[in-house]
Amino acid sequence: MKIFVVLILSYTIIGTALSAEPSCDFQIAVGDNLKFSQDKVVASKACGTVTIKLKHEGKLPKNMMGHNWVLTHAKDVSAVATDGMSAGLNNQYVKAGDSRVIAFSEMIGGGEETSVSFSIGALSTSEDYIFFCSFPGHFYAMRGILEVT
Ligand code: CO
Repeated sequence: MKIFVVLILSYTIIGTALSAEPSCDFQIAVGDNLKFSQDKVVASKACGTVTIKLKHEGKLPKNMMGHNWVLTHAKDVSAVATDGMSAGLNNQYVKAGDSRVIAFSEMIGGGEETSVSFSIGALSTSEDYIFFCSFPGHFYAMRGILEVT
């Protein structure tokens, strides 16, 4: 009986580790500073759909230290972020209907979490994609690379 229990536990632990690769779900943490917990996400087109879970572990409210996760082609980051500034907090600092935006999450403050899912099938393995926070002034520092494999 003891052996049986140990086997079940081992199988569960190993099974969890194996199923985590390749990952199509990513956890990214942010806080009361301008930094994502990881500056690179590597995702496979085989995922079909990729989900980013964003967790704000800080204390400041979203009107002071809001963070979101916006994905664009690398060449579009500055323009999308600049246009987003005037869109306002209620629009997640993303211009309505901006076709350059591949995916974006809502803006969150300390203690909150959100997630965004997008189709990776249409993205190219040979192009450069950047994720960033579109809160005014954050995109210079708060960004990372999405590598499509
Ligand atoms: Co931010």
